[in-house]
Amino acid sequence: MSLIRAAITSLGKFLPERVVTNKDLEKIMDTSDEWIVQRTGIRQRHFLDPGLGNSYMASRAATDCLTRAGVSPSEIDTIIVGTISADNPFPSTACIIQEMIGADNAWGFDLTAGCSGFLFALITGAQFIESGRYRKVLVVGSDMNSMYLNPEDRSTYVIFGDGAGAVLLEPSADPELGIIDFMSQIDGAGGQYLTVKAGGSKRPATFETVQNKEHFVQQDGRTVFKFAVKNMADVSVAIMKRNNIGSDDLDLFVPHQANLRIIEACAKRMKISPDIVIVNIDKYANTTCGTLPLALCDAEEQGRLKKGDRVIAAAFGAGFTWGSVYFRWAMDRDR
Ligand code: ACO
Repeated sequence: MSLIRAAITSLGKFLPERVVTNKDLEKIMDTSDEWIVQRTGIRQRHFLDPGLGNSYMASRAATDCLTRAGVSPSEIDTIIVGTISADNPFPSTACIIQEMIGADNAWGFDLTAGCSGFLFALITGAQFIESGRYRKVLVVGSDMNSMYLNPEDRSTYVIFGDGAGAVLLEPSADPELGIIDFMSQIDGAGGQYLTVKAGGSKRPATFETVQNKEHFVQQDGRTVFKFAVKNMADVSVAIMKRNNIGSDDLDLFVPHQANLRIIEACAKRMKISPDIVIVNIDKYANTTCGTLPLALCDAEEQGRLKKGDRVIAAAFGAGFTWGSVYFRWAMDRDR
């Protein structure tokens, strides 16, 4: 039996219209543009207007991806949405957007893995293609992080944004190109360092949980920072080693965008040139499951992804969760 490889054949994105700059934040909390830029690299973020919900962004990114591919929504077999901010506990975002985009032959589900949600969804989707079971899998990463932000906590409020990206996975026309390998890990001992304490089955919403602000994100920023650098870098070095890729052989490194200092420390630990690292955190901040598809989409639009390129994408998030994917880029620029 010949090998089927999954390849990304299209990309799409959506950012809400409302842009909030660091200067805007200076007006509502004790922070400064200088502190935010120096400590995080973030200059602005997009926030979705309340009442629209995560599906608004996810569906638009999905439609953008399919339009660019010239693929009809009816052709989609499976929709997987990486997210931590679904419109409701149920139904899933996949069900909501299946109806919104008109993917009337698709099944699908949401996948939750903190900021690694898109990466885990991508490798899950790739298995359906590689097994030969499906031919068109739509993988979406979308998050409305603003729903979790406490305006009284400046250390978390400034680092997140809202946004969505989507990719189409299909069998690669060239078996040498596409998703070649992945490595993924979780460590539940890290859960305490980055969490939303209430709103789930253990502490459902009550007057008390709202009053105590337990529905907002809480983190130990320094601990998250250290684990993010070490784990994203080490899993990426491990996948490079397993595939005989030296630092000079790598064409592009696409890291989760959590903090510019995390990205730079990660590249240093991996001993790769900063020139091959994709950075867009300045424009979007940390969009959780949106970061990787947005970064891939921006890289492709900027002509930084060429057919045959060796690309590593890496993520780290709440859980803790982390992983790395190795691609030989399969898309033609003039497609
Ligand atoms: N504006 C001004 N000052 C601030 C702000 C702010 N927005 N936030 C914190 N400070 C202050 C602190 O109060 C502290 O003041 P003090 O010295 O008087 O006590 C000082 O800045 C230093 O605080 P630290 O927490 O040590 O600052 P640090 O350099 O670690 O930066 C940050 C904080 C940005 C949260 C960083 O730790 C970080 O990015 N951690 C990773 C967290 C993360 O990425 N979480 C997202 C989800 S997981 C993921 O995506 C990987």
